[in-house]
Amino acid sequence: MRLEEESGFAPAKVNLTLRVTGRRPDGYHLLDSFVVFADFGDRLSVGPDSDLSLTVTGPFGAALAPSEDNLVLRAARALAETAGIVPFGALRLEKNLPLASGIGGGSSDAAAALRLLSLYWGLTVPPETLAPIALRLGADVPVCLRRLPVRMAGIGEVISPVPAPPKGLGLLLVNPGLACPTPAIFRARAAAGTPFSAADAVPGQGFETAAAFAQALAASGNDLEEAAISLTPEIGAVLAGIAGTAGCLLARMSGSGATCFGLFPSVAEAEAAAAGAALRRPGWWVWGGGLYEPPRSAL
Ligand code: C5P
Repeated sequence: MRLEEESGFAPAKVNLTLRVTGRRPDGYHLLDSFVVFADFGDRLSVGPDSDLSLTVTGPFGAALAPSEDNLVLRAARALAETAGIVPFGALRLEKNLPLASGIGGGSSDAAAALRLLSLYWGLTVPPETLAPIALRLGADVPVCLRRLPVRMAGIGEVISPVPAPPKGLGLLLVNPGLACPTPAIFRARAAAGTPFSAADAVPGQGFETAAAFAQALAASGNDLEEAAISLTPEIGAVLAGIAGTAGCLLARMSGSGATCFGLFPSVAEAEAAAAGAALRRPGWWVWGGGLYEPPRSAL
C-alpha cells in the first residue's frame, strides 16, 4: 500500500532555470532546464472497479472538471494500449496544485498514473517503455516520471543527471491565482522578437551550501519570465514579494508561470516565509518546504 501511495504522489515540478534554445519545425520549443521536485503535490490513488473511472477532489479539484481527455485518463488508456490490456480501476485524484501554473501539475498527474497503474495492473514495463508514452502525453511528463533533480533538454525528452542540490534546501512556491497557458507565453515571447539563448554551462560538481547553489543558478534565468510578466503583470509582484522575504537567496518564475519560487538556506526558513504576512494576499496560493526525495523502492 505504501508503495502505491508513493507511486501515486505527483509532486510539483520546479524549473530552477529555463532556457529556450530553439524551435523545432513542428512548433515545439527546444529547452534547457534544471528541474527539481517539491515535497508537495497532487495525490493519485486507485481502487477496484471493472471500468476505468476518475473522480477529482482537493482544493483545486472543482476547477478541473473530470473529462475524457483529462491527462490521467489519457495516460491510463495509453499505458493499457501498450500493455495490450483493457484499462480498469477507480482513480481518485486529489488536486492540491493550482492549474496551468508552470509547476507541471497535469504532467505530474499523468506520470503518477503511469507509475501507479503499472504497479496496480502488475505490468512489468521497463522505464524505456514508459518514456515514449510519457512524451506523447506532454513535453514535461518524462521528467515527471523521474521525480529527481535532472537537466531536461530537447522538448523534454533528453534527460541527464545534475549535481545534487545541497541537503536541506528550502523551497517556497507562490502562485497569484491566474492561469498562464503555455502556448500563449511562447507566442508572446516570439512576438517580442526575443532571440534564442545558448544552453547553460553544466555545473560540474555538487554544491556545499544553498548560497553557493543559488549563486550558480543566478547566472542563468527563465527565458519565459519577461513574456509571462507582459501577459500577467501580477507575476512581477509575486517575484518582488518572494525576494523580499527573510533569507531568500533567489526568486524566479517556474516554467511558463505564473508560479514563482524562492530558494532558502533551510526548509524552516522557507516554511517561515510561506507563513509570513507579506505573501498573504487575496487569491494567492503559497507553500513552503523542501525538495521531494523519493524512496528508492518507489522509483
Ligand atoms: O507538451 P505540453 O502539453 O506540456 O505543452 C503545451 C504547449 O506548450 C504545446 O502545445 C506547445 O505549444 C508549447 N510547448 C512548446 N515547447 C515545449 C513544451 C511546450 O512549444 N518544449
